Amino acid sequence: MTSLIDWLTRSRVWRSFFRHGWPDNARDRALVMTTNVFFHLHPVKINRASLRATYTFGLGLVTAIAFASLVVTGALLMFWYAPTVERAYPDILSLQTAVPYGQLLRNLHRWGAHLMVLTAVLHLARVFYTGAYKPPREFNWVVGVGLLALTLAGSFTGYLLPWDQLAFWAVTVGTSLASHLPGIGADLQAYLLGGPEVGQAALLRFYALHVMVIPLALALLTSVHFWRVRKDGGLAVPKIPRDTVLAFPVVAVIEVMLTLAVSLGLLLLSLAVDAPLEAVANPNLTPDPSKAPWYFVGLQEMLEHGHPFVMAIAGPLLAGLFVAAVPYLDPAETDAGVWFGSRRGAWITALSAVYTLVGVPALVVLSNAFPPRELLRGQAPEWVAQALIPGGATVLFTLAPLLALGVARVRPTRREALLVLFTLLLVTAAVVTVIGFQFRGPGFELYWPWQMPDGYNPWDSF
Ligand code: HEM
Repeated sequence: MTSLIDWLTRSRVWRSFFRHGWPDNARDRALVMTTNVFFHLHPVKINRASLRATYTFGLGLVTAIAFASLVVTGALLMFWYAPTVERAYPDILSLQTAVPYGQLLRNLHRWGAHLMVLTAVLHLARVFYTGAYKPPREFNWVVGVGLLALTLAGSFTGYLLPWDQLAFWAVTVGTSLASHLPGIGADLQAYLLGGPEVGQAALLRFYALHVMVIPLALALLTSVHFWRVRKDGGLAVPKIPRDTVLAFPVVAVIEVMLTLAVSLGLLLLSLAVDAPLEAVANPNLTPDPSKAPWYFVGLQEMLEHGHPFVMAIAGPLLAGLFVAAVPYLDPAETDAGVWFGSRRGAWITALSAVYTLVGVPALVVLSNAFPPRELLRGQAPEWVAQALIPGGATVLFTLAPLLALGVARVRPTRREALLVLFTLLLVTAAVVTVIGFQFRGPGFELYWPWQMPDGYNPWDSF
């Protein structure tokens, strides 16, 4: 028997598949990493500090796992679903009722998509707060911003495909945001939809983008992203002390365990909670409220407080540019790989978060109780009430913490100034999303969640 195994493992066929011995010594453990197409993304030795769970929380990897699971479940869904106005909705219905595990498959795809959006944002936040965007990682940060945009686009285009009321109106509300771009807005919206409103042309366009263009672009950009992590010398960790370990098997074990844990979590969630499906899309029956998908409902909330161009176009565009420019605004290499840079940085971040958590809901309630548009009707031009006041309030609100630091005679470093601004942006985005999603009811009016009229529950259409 031993000689048979010996003969087999020495044969040319075996050695062409397995180019190294059993990885129980340093040489073979190094060879595993260099000869395996998946492992060779990792170096042979890695920094021990980058393995700490509280450094990355595995968020980039969880995002990648969610993406991989979406590719698998999405391909399976394509066997059943046809992107036509006549067939899309009945196909989803029959998938749920007539196809074995069809409902589970749909649930896995839906919850996987939400997970990917959530973890991509959290991963961005972790990279920011650990200063991992600093040189030489600026380019990879920008690639990451592109990945986040593609992730949102993938989720949004998928939203339309079930062709139910939820899909139809969320996409109608979402694409109408584009129409506020001055000059080209209406054309841009028509281009996105392939016509003046959501219909067959839009369904086909969204489908092509969703199953082909966006996943391919994501796969390509993710490859560039991983390759850059490697070329930039692995994860950003403080230079001293340098303490490396052989990557095999610890990295493989972490990756397999995390994949199993994410898959199990998604599976349990999908067994417990079904993806929503409302009545078939009806362009003549507008549900009340009509909301964008949850990750755009923050923008819809902003629309309540000023001119659409200022609140839904200029503001978010500036915010996006700011996020993309982060590494160029703080190019110093010091403190890369350290959460918040210092204790003072952590304090500044915590205070900025508290300020935003209190300030933004207060501003929303104030603007709702005393809408400048109504108060100034006939007394001042529209642009004063709709653009100058909300825009000015936003700028003041943003600059106030930096002024406060000046008054307290704290001279913030560039990184600390960015900690303030980024935290303001991130927490504002989270707060307006929660308000738009959980506190807006019929007529998009403000309600306490436990006092929603007409039995409206936003989670029914999540
Ligand atoms: C589809 C979305 C994304 C995937 C699948 C992804 C995946 C990953 C993975 C697996 C890593 C290495 C491990 C880790 O840090 O957790 C990583 C690192 C990194 N990611 Fe992402 N990422 C995505 C989006 C983003 C975004 C939105 C940003 C920021 C704008 C970003 C910026 C970076 C940077 C700068 C690194 C290097 C971090 C360091 O050196 O510590 N990524 N990404």
